[in-house]
Amino acid sequence: MEPLSFTSDSVFLDRGRLYTVSMCPGMRIYGERLFTLSGTEYREWDPRRSKLSAYLTVGGKHFPFKKDSKVLYLGASSGTTPSHVADICAEGKVYCVEFAQRMFRDLVGTCETRPNMMPILGDATRPEEYSMFADSVDVVYQDVAQKMQAKILCDNMDAFNAKYGMVAVKARSEDVTTSPESIFKEAERVIRDRGYRIVDDEPLEPFEKAHAMIVVERD
Ligand SMILES: C[S@@+](CC[C@H](N)C(=O)[O-])C[C@H]1O[C@@H](n2cnc3c(N)ncnc32)[C@H](O)[C@@H]1O
Repeated sequence: MEPLSFTSDSVFLDRGRLYTVSMCPGMRIYGERLFTLSGTEYREWDPRRSKLSAYLTVGGKHFPFKKDSKVLYLGASSGTTPSHVADICAEGKVYCVEFAQRMFRDLVGTCETRPNMMPILGDATRPEEYSMFADSVDVVYQDVAQKMQAKILCDNMDAFNAKYGMVAVKARSEDVTTSPESIFKEAERVIRDRGYRIVDDEPLEPFEKAHAMIVVERD
């Protein structure tokens, strides 16, 4: 079990598979494999179920999450990836925004397993609806699979004064008639025009078709 140094030793690699240290030993969130080594329980982090794991698995090296980071997670769904982010930011806070009632019910259950996860029923296109939960965050992570993904990221980074952002851009959510490469370029243009710097841009194939992870920093 090798820690990945650029993740502040919060993500581990063993025979090509990624793991986080479980904050809640003995509990599975999505049927993931658990195993214990020297008294520490590790949870496998499946790149086919999580775009953040896919980003690391394809070689992405920009990882803004620290042990005490405050993270605004947009498009939390039932909490699969947010639960790994909560393991990583064990002394921080993960604000999990989801707008679908059905997913939100499952998300509440996942958040009950980790004291540093907070479920928020809200629409990521309207940061003013949930701005009362935090004055600022360190990282905005976004996986909402809807139109205007770059704008939503920047609006939330502005609203929460975030230094770092990551957005898993799903090309087909923007326009099915335009090539994914053009959509990713356009998303980057929007982000640059809003005054943010692109520090990485990784296609997520073969784990996610026509998706790219764009990593952003405020200067
Ligand atoms: C691809 S899923 C997210 C999966 C999750 N990030 C994970 O890795 O575990 C996208 C989620 O974004 C939610 N979503 C889409 N548009 C949204 C919006 N405007 N505000 C909040 N959630 C949104 C959807 O309901 C869906 O649950």
